[in-house]
Amino acid sequence: MQNNSLKNKKIVISAGASGIGLAITKTCLDRGATVLATDINNKFINTLKKNSKYKKKLFLYNFDASDENDVSNFFKSVKSKFKKIDCLINNVGIAGPTGTLEKLSSKDWEKTLKTNVISHFYFTKRAIPFLKTNRGGSIINISSGAGVLGFPLRSPYAASKWAVIGITKTLAMELGKYKIRVNAICPGTIKGNRMVRVIRDKAKFLKLSKKKVEKDFLSMSSLKSWVYEEDIGKMCAFLISEDALRISGQIIGVNGNEIRLD
Ligand SMILES: NC(=O)c1ccc[n+]([C@@H]2O[C@H](COP(=O)([O-])OP(=O)(O)OC[C@H]3O[C@@H](n4cnc5c(N)ncnc54)[C@H](O)[C@@H]3O)[C@@H](O)[C@H]2O)c1
Repeated sequence: MQNNSLKNKKIVISAGASGIGLAITKTCLDRGATVLATDINNKFINTLKKNSKYKKKLFLYNFDASDENDVSNFFKSVKSKFKKIDCLINNVGIAGPTGTLEKLSSKDWEKTLKTNVISHFYFTKRAIPFLKTNRGGSIINISSGAGVLGFPLRSPYAASKWAVIGITKTLAMELGKYKIRVNAICPGTIKGNRMVRVIRDKAKFLKLSKKKVEKDFLSMSSLKSWVYEEDIGKMCAFLISEDALRISGQIIGVNGNEIRLD
């Protein structure tokens, strides 16, 4: 049976053309939504464009989410299409560098915070008027297990993801009176290209085999299992839907109960 839980919803997502973002984009489209997805990588955008299944309900935009001018121009084109939107998903986020803090460069720190936190600000600031015109809606911020736990060798990433939690809690309080709900999702260890790179870099830094590092990552959750990109898509779909009308200010782990990150 077709699930139409997001019928007529208009959803903006940053970094929505590959990885977790793509899974969220597809889940929302499959449930009847119209999706405006942005991504810095034109190759991913073009691959998705060729997917004729989604032609009428998917709008794609190629720009850097951490460039305020580009974000501003994007929202101008959103305005020329739609007066209101139902949801913003701040998914953009880079892994940042791997290493002990004293060895990391200011440039890497700044880039991680700019992409993972300031770009969310650029999007959220401009999405709020659309959500207010809609008389309610939802903002979903993608944080991480590193947004609720310490994460050795990844200090800028952990700092950025804890910041996302702070923004989520604060915005939920600021926007509740407009019936705008704000929640964060903390994905666990996701089976995908990002974790391939994270495991490679950590193995290199610690001089361990990639197999050992992978095994360690999986041991950090009670379910001892990978999490799949689609799991995050499904949680987003639930949070956007009418089934979640009383859920706001929550930090939701989709991570098999991740209890440590070390
Ligand atoms: N993969 C994981 O294990 C994991 C775990 C916890 C949290 N997360 C978070 O989930 C989100 C998505 O992660 P992912 O693994 O799919 O990421 P990813 O590294 O696979 O990248 C996803 C997309 O982001 C785009 N992107 C990167 N920088 C951009 C920018 N400046 N502007 C626009 N687009 C940009 C890339 O082109 C790519 O299409 C991130 O916020 C990440 O921190 C991921």
